[in-house]
Amino acid sequence: MRQIWIEKFGPPEVLTLKSAPDPEPKPGEVRIRVEASGVNFAEIVGRTGLYPDLPPLPVVPGYEVSGRIDAVGAEVDKSLIGRDVLALTRFGGYADVVCVSAQQIFTRPPGMTSLEAAALPVNYLTAWQLIVVMGGLKRGETVLVHSAGGGVGIAATQIAKHIGATVIGTASGAKHDELRALGVDHLIDYRTEDFERRAREITQGRGVELILDAVGGVSFKKGYRLLAPTGRLGMFGISSAVTGKERRLLDLFLLLARTPWFQFNPMALINANKGVFGVNLGHLWGEIDRIHGWGESLLELWAQGAIKPKIAQCFSFDQAAEAHRFIQDRKNIGKVLLVP
Ligand SMILES: NC(=O)c1ccc[n+]([C@@H]2O[C@H](COP(=O)([O-])OP(=O)(O)OC[C@H]3O[C@@H](n4cnc5c(N)ncnc54)[C@H](OP(=O)(O)O)[C@@H]3O)[C@@H](O)[C@H]2O)c1
Repeated sequence: MRQIWIEKFGPPEVLTLKSAPDPEPKPGEVRIRVEASGVNFAEIVGRTGLYPDLPPLPVVPGYEVSGRIDAVGAEVDKSLIGRDVLALTRFGGYADVVCVSAQQIFTRPPGMTSLEAAALPVNYLTAWQLIVVMGGLKRGETVLVHSAGGGVGIAATQIAKHIGATVIGTASGAKHDELRALGVDHLIDYRTEDFERRAREITQGRGVELILDAVGGVSFKKGYRLLAPTGRLGMFGISSAVTGKERRLLDLFLLLARTPWFQFNPMALINANKGVFGVNLGHLWGEIDRIHGWGESLLELWAQGAIKPKIAQCFSFDQAAEAHRFIQDRKNIGKVLLVP
């Protein structure tokens, strides 16, 4: 098999492609011949050395794949061999062969391409947890989606529009036309405009009922102020910690200094009628049955045509560095994939 390794922290070029013998599935596992691996921003944060969840180096990153099962371990139904699946991987997804617990797979429905399948798990499960499970978004409410052009942003927009909410998205200006066509009702170029002021104008002063924010730092502070009564702030990342292709600790320190550590105290929340919550899908491995339920709901929505992953671009395994650079240069509209 071939795997993409992070052996040291640094710019995209540290990603190294290597060969190794194919792994054998352990009891309870299936082996998947991978057709596509999802690239997530977490791996970029990991590559720069700023991701606390990354196992010690060297490591094969990657949280999701699609492909076909070609072997199963003991205690696993042999009829799974030959099945097309999408799967969550706890790291190790940047590989053309992976072994995962049979609990981590979903059957790929007929008609779904292997590219769509690899684009679905992390982005849509995260958006589902933010919007439906914890955010409780309702028809007629307004949601502010930061990084609306990213994988999670597009998934969130589709789910929010299906619910019947109004979507305000922030994204680099060059993406606005395409994002409008994808359903975002109002767009803000957060690099040239103050999103808090613009979103307040758009909502005629009222503010928004839900915010999905993985930018972090001062963005959390502004978002909290922007919440309307009963508004909820969902925090799920700190993209703004990544300010270059390599780790810049001073910038991380500045980001932490701008983070509103003391704003969200219980009395402030009670008196303001506002909610604040956090999401980290990677910390829900103990809840795999619930995640399976969310995944089945999402596959049902896909079958109805209510959601559809948008692929920004596919890169071959030996172009992994380019894939990371493409995202860091903010060029992607939708999901970036690695294809063996
Ligand atoms: N907690 C969880 O469970 C979880 C799960 C999935 C993702 N996340 C987080 O959600 C965020 C988005 O993830 P994703 O996979 O949807 O992203 P993605 O598809 O990789 O998209 C990245 C986009 O984010 C925007 N961006 C914002 N700040 C940036 C920065 N400092 N450097 C480069 N790009 C930046 C850029 O678009 P614009 O400039 O156009 O906005 C860029 O194109 C990340 O912070 C990620 O870690 C969290």
